[in-house]
Amino acid sequence: MTVKNTATTKQRQPLIWAVASGKGGVGKSFVAANLTMAFAAHEKKAVLVDLDLGSANAHTCLGINHPKTTLSQLLRHKNIDINSLVEPSNTPFMGLISGSSDDLDMANLKHFQKLKVMRNLRHLDADFVILDLGAGTGFNTLDFFLYADQGLLTVMPEPTSVENTYRFVKSLLTRQLRSLPKQSHALMNDILIEQKKDYGKIQSFAQFLADMLEKHPEHGKNIQGNLQKLQLNLVVNQMMDPADTKLGDAMQIIFHKYFSLNLNLLGCLHHDVHVTQALKQRQSYYQLFPQSRNAICLHRMAEKVIKTQQIKTNGVVN
Ligand SMILES: Nc1ncnc2c1ncn2[C@@H]1O[C@H](COP(=O)(O)OP(=O)(O)O)[C@@H](O)[C@H]1O
Ligand SMILES: [Mg+2]
Repeated sequence: MTVKNTATTKQRQPLIWAVASGKGGVGKSFVAANLTMAFAAHEKKAVLVDLDLGSANAHTCLGINHPKTTLSQLLRHKNIDINSLVEPSNTPFMGLISGSSDDLDMANLKHFQKLKVMRNLRHLDADFVILDLGAGTGFNTLDFFLYADQGLLTVMPEPTSVENTYRFVKSLLTRQLRSLPKQSHALMNDILIEQKKDYGKIQSFAQFLADMLEKHPEHGKNIQGNLQKLQLNLVVNQMMDPADTKLGDAMQIIFHKYFSLNLNLLGCLHHDVHVTQALKQRQSYYQLFPQSRNAICLHRMAEKVIKTQQIKTNGVVN
């Protein structure tokens, strides 16, 4: 069976993956950078875009010391090709657009600037574009996550990280509801008021959707349509205990029950002291420790994503 080689197709559109988490310090940059390396190892052109503006450090995870070009140049100049901002790298198939800059902050990114970045991301000459987003639920962060073709949530096996992941998804769904036509808003409010009256508090998003579908099917179907566009994946990072492997399955069940969302468990990574060692040696973990179980897992994650994509576009895999 043959598969069209996307790496040589000129007019290809990259598949955009956004990596986010409810809270900082869980390993978004670690996962985003090393997954980019794993795509590149599969000979898929992958560009990591550091959108954690204000605290950009994806370059450090890749072992790139002082990026010469940054995303802010895209916003400063009128006619600039985003591809000229990709930092050259010694690793074949891998590139970086750094966000390290003094004058850019995600929270302060203006609407037209956000749109300009989004539009340009589609012009990147790559198979995969991986967005390393900042922590939290700022509107700009949510909008980049919603704009991506695939969302990747990074969680750590600790209650605060899990809670903040749910909060992130709630904010995401609320943000998505804002895009619905104005008539829907009054009806949605009515449902929430009724829930408060009947149960004393607002129910889960899944219940809200069920109520909308029952009482206002047309509007409910719009919400359902939006939900189906959300492609959510999960990586559990920094596992320390064998019991931590259960977290992914538990979250899948909860996502379905409370949000009516399917969560694809992409993989589980262990806590490894070598992560810090790689940072100190200014090299990517994936390259420095290719035989580690995390690197092997990242390699398999990339492989899984590539195969799924090949099946979606061609219907076959080789
Ligand atoms: N699997 C892991 N094992 C050990 N340390 C890790 C792992 N993943 C991330 N870290 C460490 O945790 C800290 C936060 O990671 P980082 O990727 O910067 O998180 P975020 O981007 O979510 O803020 C860093 O010091 C990083 O080296
Ligand atoms: Mg980070």
